[in-house]
Order: sequence, then structure tokens, then C-alpha cells
Amino acid sequence: MNLPIYLDNASTTPLLPEVIEAMNSVMTDEYGNPSSIHAKGRKSKSVIEAARKTVAKVINASVAEVFFTSSATEANNGMISSAVKSLGISRIITTKAEHPCVLNTIQSQKIDTVYLSLNSNGEIDLYELNHLLSDSDPKTLVSLMYINNEIGVIHPVNKIAELCKEHNAYFHCDAVQAVGKYKIDVQKTPIHFLSSSAHKFHGPKGVGFMYINGDVSIEPYLYGGSQERNMRAGTENLYGIVGLAKALELAVHEKESRMSHIASLKAKLLEELMTHFVDLKINAGGAQTAAHIASISFPHSDKSELMMFNLDINGICASAGSACSSGVEHDSPVLEAIGHDPKRKTVRFSFSHLNTAEEIDYLIEKLKTLTPLQS
Ligand SMILES: Cc1ncc(COP(=O)(O)O)c(C=O)c1O
Repeated sequence: MNLPIYLDNASTTPLLPEVIEAMNSVMTDEYGNPSSIHAKGRKSKSVIEAARKTVAKVINASVAEVFFTSSATEANNGMISSAVKSLGISRIITTKAEHPCVLNTIQSQKIDTVYLSLNSNGEIDLYELNHLLSDSDPKTLVSLMYINNEIGVIHPVNKIAELCKEHNAYFHCDAVQAVGKYKIDVQKTPIHFLSSSAHKFHGPKGVGFMYINGDVSIEPYLYGGSQERNMRAGTENLYGIVGLAKALELAVHEKESRMSHIASLKAKLLEELMTHFVDLKINAGGAQTAAHIASISFPHSDKSELMMFNLDINGICASAGSACSSGVEHDSPVLEAIGHDPKRKTVRFSFSHLNTAEEIDYLIEKLKTLTPLQS
């Protein structure tokens, strides 16, 4: 086992050798500008279109509904702001647990925004959503993520999409933590806007895609050339796009084996934690959560205050559930939104198929020295 062990896969994932190989070959040979009409340009263009076909097939969309972007942040910014402008949206329904790239974009729109209540597991109340949508007057965009990146709660996107359809509302879904891990079929689930990012499924950083339902017409949000069918100008990130498609293809092909391995690692971690420690809380533990995310809240102690620092010096990469501003540590907005006790220390461990049971054993042994409440 090599140190450090990497348990921060909801943040980003390592590139797979097959992805590097696919990118390398295009980096070496394909330098043509995809907008050029000569042979080298046409070749680059065909590489992008093959990647688009791969993505479209995975989410059951048509190729004309898939647009490559520089990130999910760009996709969410672009789709939300353009939807508000082009579709006359006057109200957005969302939650305080969305990713900052969604929340801050929504806030920048300066339109009526309703935050759905969340229970202590981070779950929404579908009755509340239905009730709000029944007021058909304001043209509404519902923006809800598929899987929460901090606590892993899975939202019922099928039901949300059906409610939006029934009430003629638009549905934007940040599916960054789900793409490549959980099934998304835009023919079966009536989503209007969806975002994804390659580096969450072992693809390269700096490339993502958005799906925009073909029946919805929104204005571009980047002006320039006619790339990405005028929606998003700028010479395409050819190598990134190839890496994204290869990583997605592998993720979908190996989904069952990867996900069952990841689920077994999470189950092992939770079982060991429950056996060896007292007064732990599994955030969103009462809800359906993603197999790759375990958010653990440790009781307050001098040792737990130094938890992130100690994990790091012991060769364990994980993520904190808090942020420091003006020298004061406070819970993340997601933890605040679910009423988490700010005196407790939250650590998010997130897995990929590259992690091993041996790494979980190592983590448990280290945690025994880092938190005093061991039974
Ligand atoms: C749920 C969610 N949405 C959006 C993003 C932003 O993705 P990107 O890094 O591609 O901008 C992330 C990444 O952390 C995320 O987890």
C-alpha cells in the first residue's frame, strides 16, 4: 500500500492510464483547429463529434443536445443565467445545499428565489415542491442536484422531473456526482438542463459537458465563433473532450463492478467505525446516499479539532466539512442547512474503484489514535 491514500474522490479523481493514452495520441497527432475546413481541421472535428456521440449515448440524448464546456461550473453558470434571460424565468426553486457554482449563479440573477426546506438528512420534501409548483403563475426553474457532493444524499430526480413536467416548470440538475456512477436517461427523466464534469469520473480537469433538452431554446452565454452550435464560443478543448469521452465510456462499461467495490468499501468503513467508536454521526445516514461518499461527524474534543491536520500528516487525503473565515472555523453551508452541530468535526471520505480494503484498515487504525472516544 502506498501513502498517501486518496479518499477525496468526490473532490477529484486520478486520471486512468487508458484516458491518458487516448489523450496522448490526439495530443501528438491532432493539432488541427476543429473549425478549419482542411483535412487536419476535419479530423479534429470528427474526433470531437465521436466524443459527443459517446456522451449522448450514455445519457440517451441526441448529439445536438450535448455541449462541451470547460467545467461543470461553466455549464451551471451558462445554463442557469441563459435560461433566466431567454425563458422569462421569474422564480427559482432550489436548496441551500447546492454547489456554490449553482447557488452563486442563482443569487446573481436577482429574481425571486425559494429555498426548499431540508430535513436533517438533507432530503427535500416533495409535497413542499409540489405545493410551490401548484402556484403556476411565476415561470419557474427548479434547480436541484442529483447527489450532494458533501453528504452524498441522493435526490429523487425522477419524481422531481415529473413534478416539474406536470406543472410546466423547467428542471436544471447538477449531476456532477452522479454521471458515470448512476444511471441517467434523459428520455425517461424529463430534465431540461444537466451538467457534468470529467474530473469526477477519472477524466481530465478543465472539461465538462451540459445537456440542454432539444425542445428548449436558450441564448448563448459566450459570444465569438460558431463552436458548439453557437452556444459556447471558443476553440474546443480537443484533448480534454477526448479524455472525457474515454473516461465516461470506461466508467459506464465498468459501472457494476466499480460501484459494488466502492459500496463494499463504504460499508466496511461504516461498520468498522460503528464497532470501534462511540458518538459518531453519519451525516445523511437516514437517507439514501451515494456509494462513494461517507460524511462522518466526530464528537468535539481537542483531538478532533486537529483531525484534518492529523489525517494529512498520517498520509490520508480526505476533505473537511468546514471552512475557515476570519480565523474562525465554521460548518460548510451544506452542514448548516441540515442543522449539523457545529461543535462536531465533519470529515468526508470519498472513494473510487482504485481504493482498497487495506486502505480502509489503515484509515481505521489511524482514526483510533486521532479520536479519543474509542470503545
Ligand atoms: C456537485 C458539484 N457541482 C459542481 C461542481 C463543479 O465542477 P467543476 O470542478 O467542473 O467546476 C462540483 C465539483 O466539486 C460538484 O461536486
